Amino acid sequence: MTAEKTAMQAEEFRLFKEHVAESLGLVLEEGSRRNLAAKLWPRLEELRLKSFTEYYCYLKFSPGREAEWQRLVPLLTNNETYFYREAAQLSVLAQEVLPALKERKTARGERAIRILSAGCSSGEEVYTLAMLLLESGCFSWDWDVRITGVDIDTRVLDAARQGLYAQRAFWAADPELVRRYLTPHGDKLAVRPILRKWTCFAEGNLLDLRERLAGERFDVILCRNVLIYFAEETVKRVVDNFTALQASGDYLFLGHSESLSRTGASYVPLRFPGAIIYQKRT
Ligand SMILES: C[S@@+](CC[C@H](N)C(=O)[O-])C[C@H]1O[C@@H](n2cnc3c(N)ncnc32)[C@H](O)[C@@H]1O
Repeated sequence: MTAEKTAMQAEEFRLFKEHVAESLGLVLEEGSRRNLAAKLWPRLEELRLKSFTEYYCYLKFSPGREAEWQRLVPLLTNNETYFYREAAQLSVLAQEVLPALKERKTARGERAIRILSAGCSSGEEVYTLAMLLLESGCFSWDWDVRITGVDIDTRVLDAARQGLYAQRAFWAADPELVRRYLTPHGDKLAVRPILRKWTCFAEGNLLDLRERLAGERFDVILCRNVLIYFAEETVKRVVDNFTALQASGDYLFLGHSESLSRTGASYVPLRFPGAIIYQKRT
């Protein structure tokens, strides 16, 4: 096979880039062209397609396009995650946000709390949140708690539902908490039923989240380490979706390298040592 045959032409890359930005939000950098071509070529061969133009048409117009898109997503996204990622933010959640939410809800006679992990990958963030809520002691058995993880990649969602993790997923977690909430399972650790009780996972695209989760409201949304890969106008669209899913005073957490400075008129930043979080304006 010649390198020329497997190369992706500039025009083909442009078409791909546009399609990916439109469907997934992700910005493909010019530098990723060769790598993308190398990852995709085996699939073209399987499908007996002769060029990336043919593959692009297959992806856009064939009856199997949705299944093909699901195959493609894992090649494009970064799924890196681990338990207790970005500890400073999680402390703010445990020490400031959860007590404030409990007080607000109790004053209104409400006993339900809803948290969304938007771009949850294989579930480490969702189970960390369940551990954090249990450890906070804020919400006893008679509270209706639900932590929902949403991701576009069905392969990572399957792993999240399975709840089995290798030791390396816990490098940032307190070993005592790991012992309390996970149990050995072969050479891995399995989440205990107490973590499953409050958690669930759903397939969804952050670009269409408002429609996907219509009618739901989230006291806290975490969307960490996802928006860094998106163009500014896409970040705005995603944040607009969050706005529609939250009430005044609700909280939004982004990754430490992500900011709403240019797109988040509906949220006010709240600054804490080592962490900035956002609160929906009144
Ligand atoms: C780097 S992981 C972040 C996981 C976790 N939030 C954390 O901070 O550890 C990014 C995840 O976002 C998901 N993602 C990317 N674009 C998405 C989209 N448009 N809709 C839903 N999920 C998306 C990817 O599939 C990936 O699992």
